[in-house]
Parts: sequence; C-alpha cells; structure tokens
Amino acid sequence: MQRLEEFRKHYPPERWMIREGSWDPGLQKVRETQFAQGNGRFCCRGVLEEIPYDSTPGTFIAGLYDRTGAQITEIVNCPNPINLRIDAYGEKLGLISMDHLHHERVLDLRHGVLSRQTVFRTTHKKCILYQSRRFVSMHNRRLGVMEVRVTPLDAAMTLNVQTTIDTSVSNKGVLTEGRKIHFMPHEVGQGDNISYLCVRTLESGTFVAYATSLEICRGERCKTVSERALRLRVHKGETITFRKFFTIHTSRSAKPHQLKRETIGDLRRARRRGLKRLFEDHAKAWDRLWGEANVEIEGDHAADQALCFNIYHLIIAGNAEDDVSIGARTLSGEAYRGHIFWDAELFVTPFFMYAFPETARAQLMYRCRRLDAARAIAASKDYRGALFPWESADTGEECTPSWARDFDGTIIRITTLDYEHHIVADIAFAVDHYCRATGDWSFMMRCGLELIFETARFWASRVTLNRKRNRYEIHDAMGPDEFHERVSNSAFTNTMARWNLQAACDRAREALARAPVKTKALMRRLGLTEREIRSWHRIASRIHVPGNARRKLIEQFDGYFRLRDPRITQLDEHFMPVLPASADYRTISKTQLIKQADVVMLLFLFPNRYSAEEKRRNYYYYERRTLHKSSLSPAIHSAVGLEVGDDDKAVHYLAHALSTDLSNIHGNAAEGVHAASAGGTWQAVIMGFAGMRIHPDHISFSPRLPPGWRALKFAVRFMGAKLRVSITHRKTSILVERPAARGRVFASVYGAKKQLKKHAYVDFHPSLSRRGGKSARARRSS
Ligand code: BGC
Repeated sequence: MQRLEEFRKHYPPERWMIREGSWDPGLQKVRETQFAQGNGRFCCRGVLEEIPYDSTPGTFIAGLYDRTGAQITEIVNCPNPINLRIDAYGEKLGLISMDHLHHERVLDLRHGVLSRQTVFRTTHKKCILYQSRRFVSMHNRRLGVMEVRVTPLDAAMTLNVQTTIDTSVSNKGVLTEGRKIHFMPHEVGQGDNISYLCVRTLESGTFVAYATSLEICRGERCKTVSERALRLRVHKGETITFRKFFTIHTSRSAKPHQLKRETIGDLRRARRRGLKRLFEDHAKAWDRLWGEANVEIEGDHAADQALCFNIYHLIIAGNAEDDVSIGARTLSGEAYRGHIFWDAELFVTPFFMYAFPETARAQLMYRCRRLDAARAIAASKDYRGALFPWESADTGEECTPSWARDFDGTIIRITTLDYEHHIVADIAFAVDHYCRATGDWSFMMRCGLELIFETARFWASRVTLNRKRNRYEIHDAMGPDEFHERVSNSAFTNTMARWNLQAACDRAREALARAPVKTKALMRRLGLTEREIRSWHRIASRIHVPGNARRKLIEQFDGYFRLRDPRITQLDEHFMPVLPASADYRTISKTQLIKQADVVMLLFLFPNRYSAEEKRRNYYYYERRTLHKSSLSPAIHSAVGLEVGDDDKAVHYLAHALSTDLSNIHGNAAEGVHAASAGGTWQAVIMGFAGMRIHPDHISFSPRLPPGWRALKFAVRFMGAKLRVSITHRKTSILVERPAARGRVFASVYGAKKQLKKHAYVDFHPSLSRRGGKSARARRSS
C-alpha cells in the first residue's frame, strides 16, 4: 500500500534499524525492552500505545527508588505517559482486541525513534491504518513526544479517543511481594489545554510532576485540546493526527513549590517549538552522540547492527548530569530492582571512559558521594575503610535482598552481600582506569584518591595473617563465580585486593609529589599516616593467590582443583554449555563447574601481568568448566579467547554477547537490557578485536580482525584527545580528530610507535609476522 511505503521513508538505513515484522504476543515484553527509549534521565519501555492487557509499561527515572511493600528498595515504575486508546464502533484498536492485516515496528537506533504501522480490521471488515512515531528527547532530557495518525481506509467512522498519564502502573516485584505502587497522587489539574499530574513516592517522598498536552490535526489545521476523551468523526481516507507532548520533572531538580511552574513552563516551550523543530533538536543531539560512540564493523552486517543496538542501549542509560549510576538492567526494565552492581564499574563505565568521559566521571562520582555509606557498612562489620554494598541504589546502603528464587525455582538465601567483597576493589580499579584513560587528575584529587585510600584500608582490615605460612589470606569470600560461596583465597578477590593496596601506595606517592599540600591535608583528614601506607605495600606483597606453579594454573580458590570435575558435553540451541547430567544446582558448589568468567576475568583485567602461556593454560582450563549462567561471561571470553588464539570461539562468544537481548538468550530480556553484556560487547570489540591498551605515554593497538571483517572503525577519547581509528587487514590508520589540551599523542600498533597528527591519518603497516592473529592461528594448529 502506498501509504505504508510513504511512511517508511522515515525509516533509517538498514544498519540502524531494529524491526518487528509481525505481531507475536509471546515476544511482547521482550520487544518492550528492546524498543525502550530514553535519555539517561528517564526511560520508557517500548509498549504498544493501546497497552494490551498483559503489557508491562515502564517509566523509570534514574535514581528514583522507593521501598514501600518491597523486601528491599527498588526503582519506581512511575505513571506512564505513553498510551492512546482509540475505539471504533465500540471496538478497541489493539493487536489483541482487533484483527489486523499488517503490523510492523521499527526502532531507529540512529535517532532513537520508534515507528509503527498497523492495519486494523474491525469485525465489520472495515480497515483502519494506524501509524505512530515517538521519541524521548535527547536534547531536552525532560521531554517526550508521541504522534499517532489514524486513517479509516474503507468508510467514514466515529472514533473515541482517550489518552492519560496512566497511574494504574505498578512494580511487578517478585511473586511473594505481589504488585506494588510506589506513589500516590498529590495534585491533578488542568488549564490552558495542559493537564498536570503530580505524584509523590511513598517512602522517599519525592514529587514527580507531569505536564501533557494533546494536539489534533486534520490536514494542516491543528488545535490543542483540553479534553482527554474525544469523539471524532473521520471521513474515509482522511488522516487524523494526534500529538502528545509530555514533560517530567522531579523535586530532586526543582523545589517542590516551583515544580508545577517548571514542568508546565517546559511543556509550553516545547509546544511552541513544535514537533518538527523538537525532533530536529533531538536528532542533532543523537548525531553528536553517535559522532563519539559509533563503531562500524564492515563485512559483518549482523555483528555491526547488533553492536549498534548494544551501544544504543548504553547511550540511553548514560547520565552525566545527575547523581546516578547505571543499574544491571539499565532503565529498560525492573530486573534487579534497578540496583547497581560491579557491572557498572567493570563492564559499563569503560565504554563511557572512552566515548563520554564526563559520563564516566559522573558514574564514579556516584560512588564517591556514597563513601560515607560505604564506611558505615565497613564499620558495621568491624572492618576499617570503605565497604561498598554489593547492590546499591540511592543512599549507598546495602540493598541486596536476603533471598531469591534460584534457576530451578527453589528459594535460596542470598549471600553475595556477605562475601562478594571484590566489588570494593572493582570500584577502585575503575577510578584508577578512568584517571589513566583521561588524565583527569582533578577527579583524582577531588575524590578518587580518597576512594582508593579508603578501599585499600578496607582490604588491610579484611585480610588475615597466616603466621605459619607468612602470608596474608582472605577467608569467607566469593569471587565473580557465584556457584562457590564462602571460599578461602578466591584468586580474583585476592588479586584485586592486592592491586588495590598497591595502587593506593603508588597513587599516594604520585599525589605527594604532584600535590603535596592537598594530599597531606587529605591524609590528615583521614587520619592516614605514611606508616599505614607502607603497611599496605607489605600486605600487598604477601597476599596469597592459590595456584599450581608447575602447571602455570591459577586455582580459583583454595581446594578448587580437588573438587569433582564433571565434563560439559552438551550445548544448547545457542551453542552454550548445558549443565551435565551428573550435576545439579543444589550441589554445584562441590564441582569445578563455574557460573561465569572468574579467573578469566583476571586475565582480561590484567593483560600484562600474565605470560602468554599462563593466559593460554588458564583460559582453556576454565573455559571448559564455565556454564555462562551470567550474561557478564561471554564478552570477556571473547576478548581473552582472542588473545590466546581461540579465534573461532572468540567470534562465537562475541556473537553470543551481541545477541544477549536481541535474541533473548537468557530468557529474561523482558525484564530489561543486560547492561554489563552490552558494555562487554564494546570492550570485546575495542579491547579484544582492536587490541586497545593504554599506557602512561601512549595508546596501543594489536588488531586481530576475523577473516570476515573488512574493517573496524571507531573513535576513542584518550588523555583528552579524540582519536579516530580505522583498522583493516592491511593497515591501521589513526587520526587526531580533536587534540588534547596538553601536548602530543603517540600510538603504537603491534609495538611500532609513532606520533599522531591532527586531521591527517597516520598509517601503521603491520609486518605480518608480528600480527597476533597469525601467530595465534599458528599456535593453535601446532
Ligand atoms: C552475576 C553477577 C552480576 C549480577 C547482576 C549475577 O547473575 O553473577 O556477577 O553482577 O548478576 O548482573
């Protein structure tokens, strides 16, 4: 039909498009996650505007949590502004309530626009064309716009139209809690064709205000209406257009008594600007974002498009302005109650460090502002320094629920909060990484140093001296592999602790040299002496990490090698390991089967600490025992696999990570995008396939492109400069697109170092014998 074709002119080129070509009720909730739109401040799930009875609308505001009725505080599902109910002859236009002849939806990743075309057919066999487009503005981060066009194709008809700010939404929660509403209406008003709604969260008492207005157009004639329930006669072939603008403000950004004025004022300005220009502002903002973050994989369309999808979801989660970080499922769903884990610092923040350093800084500031809360947790457990919570929300207190349902449905006690202390060092690691990548010394002096000191202090109080063996040990710990709780000397935990203690010594020395007055003042404030700092070095150098030196194997924890070792023999439909028949989840801790990258994560984080042989042996040992029951695992296996020459698996693991949410691989994409997996895909491509590493005086690459990839192109920020990198099988070219304030930038490719130029590519032609890809392949076949 011509009208369908005309509408498709809005669609982006194939690369930027995620398409739903037909209606599958079973996929409804997954699509709501995939099609989520946001701007870091708030996010709306990709619901169908008619809100079918089993859809799960979600409007989440970054950092807005409430506990009422829940076991533990959770992200608030706020009233839903995205809804439009149309009835024709008393029948609701909807994919469940009415027949349809055609249905498609397209998410434009380039500009964050969700478009839809459905041809409905009433029981009297009259067809109606329904088309919609909507966006959550990236320019004005408190604004959303929805446009719906309805055309009766066979006969004139009377339509009843309704749209509201739907307060009937709730947090789904868990079975035992039932549905919860975390807010109550505070004020409702109408005037100047604007509807106003203000709700207040029950426990935290935050006001959330909405202003909306509805415009109706017939041809060129548009008018704003005040009624929310309309009755309209529409001719055959005539198109009637509804435009809904909404603004959302909270009392965190405006004083409660000004909230109404600001929310309505913002809406008025938006209405005056009009849809066309609002969209232009929004699209320009997106163009700027992609100018920093776009990664192109030429020659592998599926990987290229899937990476684009993952980066889109990272971008819509990023927020440089508020005191927030990114939850395990972004703002696209309710899983993990919007809580923030180590996923943020080790998986997601690196993307922002290299694409949007100011957003990475804000994410780390979120932790800095919660240092006092972390100190209180440490003190409550008789430790010193700062112990960050395993799950964090608004206040920085521990938010891990004490029980949950396991993979097989049984109720289990959650012990991560008691033992998974590696998060402390993970956060310090991210602070240090951020400073190395950006050279942002002001952040280090503002709070980074304090965080690194206080986390080191924690470890110094967390270790136990084993006098007989003259070494420090850490008992009752849990590494990333959560199948083994409460172990002694988790290699991951101990290595991270060791790094944290040593980094604190190194950074103290550096800070005392660079800013002695400020550093000494900080030390005085913390009651920190040079003697204490020296003790950190002593502890770090004697922290025990278990292993078998002869076999060059790191032992995941004391006694791991003695556990039963069932073989993984079967793969599932996604080619991922199946739990062997001889094992079950209740007794899995008695086996060497592991949930996710643990020792392999160490190989990833410390690429220079281990020899090539150590990496190879450990990767193969643990890869064969990993069930990848966490979405954090595959991307890391891709990057490390590539380094040790497991090229085919590296490509396979990348493909798997890329489709985590696109193909709903873990079966729970309905509850939100897996943020760590999305961040992991970026890291696998940039740190794995492009082989990017940073050094104090330069940035290096050792690309290993799979045969099918023609080119890999991206931009990264390094030490304040913006570099553009283009990698093919024959050469790597790097350009300084925006210079750093300070000095020259050097880069090396396979070890050959050159100074980069502004606005002119410097080419690096690798000698084939030095290429990782080739030697890796040679190693594998030998
Ligand atoms: C993983 C953790 C992760 C959490 C949130 C768990 O299943 O084991 O490593 O932090 O999910 O994504």
